[in-house]
Amino acid sequence: MTHQIPTGRRGFCRRGFLKAAAAGLGAPSIVPSSVFGAAAPSNRIHVACIGTGNQGSGILRRFMENDDVEIVAVCDVNTASYGYRDESQYLGREPARKTVDAYYGKKAGKSTYRACRTHIDFREVLARGDVDAVTVAVPDQWHAIMTIRAAEAGKDIYCEKPLSLTIAQGRAMVEAVRKHQRILQTGSMERSSRLNQHVCKLVRDGKIGQVKRVTTNVGFNNKVGPGPGWQPMPVPEGFDYDMWLGPAPLVPYHKDRCLYRFRFNYDYSGGQVTNYGAHSNDLAQWGLDMDDSGPVEIEYRRAVWLPEGSLFNTALETEFLCRYANGVELVCRTDKKPVGVRFEGTEGMVETTAYPWQARSEPASLIRAEFPSGKYSVDATSAHVRNFLNCVKSRQEPAAPVEVGHRSASLCHLGNVAIRLGRNVKWDPQREQFPGDDEANQLLTRPLRAPWKLADSV
Ligand SMILES: NC(=O)c1ccc[n+]([C@@H]2O[C@H](COP(=O)([O-])OP(=O)(O)OC[C@H]3O[C@@H](n4cnc5c(N)ncnc54)[C@H](O)[C@@H]3O)[C@@H](O)[C@H]2O)c1
Repeated sequence: MTHQIPTGRRGFCRRGFLKAAAAGLGAPSIVPSSVFGAAAPSNRIHVACIGTGNQGSGILRRFMENDDVEIVAVCDVNTASYGYRDESQYLGREPARKTVDAYYGKKAGKSTYRACRTHIDFREVLARGDVDAVTVAVPDQWHAIMTIRAAEAGKDIYCEKPLSLTIAQGRAMVEAVRKHQRILQTGSMERSSRLNQHVCKLVRDGKIGQVKRVTTNVGFNNKVGPGPGWQPMPVPEGFDYDMWLGPAPLVPYHKDRCLYRFRFNYDYSGGQVTNYGAHSNDLAQWGLDMDDSGPVEIEYRRAVWLPEGSLFNTALETEFLCRYANGVELVCRTDKKPVGVRFEGTEGMVETTAYPWQARSEPASLIRAEFPSGKYSVDATSAHVRNFLNCVKSRQEPAAPVEVGHRSASLCHLGNVAIRLGRNVKWDPQREQFPGDDEANQLLTRPLRAPWKLADSV
């Protein structure tokens, strides 16, 4: 479906540099035009990157490589440190700023160069008149607040998956993006892989017959956290811990709570069910044509937890089953296999995985006719970023718009609700409620630590 998003009060057009400068909200950057090749200033998208850690630094590079993008700011609560996904990664605000300045400096033929501004507080970024779009690549407890406020500020948004921390936050994000007529791309880059597009279209077009069963998988935890009795650590210099926690509960600092490892603590994320599940379950929803809906029942199968008091408190291993109104069953489980999805129908089967991106089908010709090797090596994240930039200009819906991101994240959250309660739950995907189930409905949302509120305007 192609859907045009009206330009609204601020679509993509050259915004008020002078107005912003006059308001003291950050002067425009001074990167010379020659750096951007054929991209005229009026056609250039000014991007600010919020969160420049493991994923944020990667997408920053993908944005920067486009000649019609100018990175005007980076924002991170960590000045610079090791301790991200791989110990060798040295990331944060200053390394990101240096990367941007070095890139433009090299293109401009200058050895010292300073154009990219740095911020610790994302609200300063959103107040700048010279920022058209933001990337949100921060822990999940921040996604809704930053997205909703960015939408209110008239920015377009590339927000990482899982789109939301809770189902209620996801719905609030959908409403804000629609209300303010913004472009939002969820960082589900699998949607920009031609191979996955082909796989999901095969399923939707009935090429494997009537779909009976879908299997998705999520990985095991790839980090080990401290067990019960862990001791708080001093907050490192240059790390704004209070602003890292934001709306999450105020608790003592430990390094394994924060950089990269936050995904294994329920206050900030939902474990591998939301981390990897946001990719594999997204593919499932897409193939099943359920992008604006979801299952009607979630069956609890299994969950393995660490001892009470461990810093990591999301499930180590899980399995749950989602039943859709049309009888299709989806089983999501922890597995060693690469993250992916398998669709089984009355006349065949097709499966696709990430890392490496490859697909297989029965009959084999379904895939091999289009992709003889079954593989696809184009960088899906670069394609996904390019799709977002095109949509910022055209105001068309991107590959993974806000409702898609919300519904795919919801499927993961629904699984987490069932495994946290240790029982089956019924779900109404239209009303987004667990009918007659107060205990489950309480897990639709989480309190925000004061003074944080989802929107600036309430
Ligand atoms: N699309 C993908 O394949 C993919 C891959 C990895 C991560 N992600 C997603 O990206 C997000 C970030 O994950 P990560 O692995 O990069 O984590 P990370 O910890 O490596 O990076 C997050 C960065 O955000 C910063 N940050 C935290 N709070 C902030 C705030 N209030 N303002 C500004 N900066 C803040 C942290 O200091 C850190 O540098 C998560 O939602 C994750 O699911 C997506």
